Amino acid sequence: TLAGDLEAALDLIRDVPDFPEPGVLFRDLTPVLSDAKALGALVYGVAAACPAADVVAGIEARGFLLAAPVAYGCGVGMVPVRKAGKLPAVAAKVSYALEYGTAELEIAVGAIQPGQRVAVIDDVLATGGTAAAACELVEQAGGVVAGVVVVLEIAALNGRAELEGYQVTALRTV
Ligand code: PRP
Repeated sequence: TLAGDLEAALDLIRDVPDFPEPGVLFRDLTPVLSDAKALGALVYGVAAACPAADVVAGIEARGFLLAAPVAYGCGVGMVPVRKAGKLPAVAAKVSYALEYGTAELEIAVGAIQPGQRVAVIDDVLATGGTAAAACELVEQAGGVVAGVVVVLEIAALNGRAELEGYQVTALRTV
């Protein structure tokens, strides 16, 4: 079944202890991406969970890997939400807190048309800082957030609290 194929795909996510720092459990989607059947099931699963939208936004870098095929499959365009300093013309910029220091996300001029509904996609929802910044960025750029879809939600980090008011869907919650 489709549901069974998706569960099998999600079972391939690899937990890597102590990466990128001691005490952090890294969730690695590489084994899902490299398996043809699992990749198809994952892309289909994210697309099926996606709210109706005019465009799909993916968060650098791992969100890109999903957002582009999902957008293609849904017949809409894809917008990269980029880490700072990569874009020649920046329409909007939002800072967000990291464990140590801050980071910034940017969106390109012309990537989102005023009033467009935008589905925001990423691989993992942890503290929620990244996804919340992406939503704020979409709104600053003139878009309307249709919802957030992630593959894996780490419930203990309560990222959903950062996304109050948005529809958040996780394919799997751990
Ligand atoms: C990871 C992940 C999410 C974010 C989740 O990306 O892909 O974007 O962290 O964390 P948060 O909910 O605590 O904000 P990372 O910043 O490692 O970037 P990468 O995808 O470029 O590796």
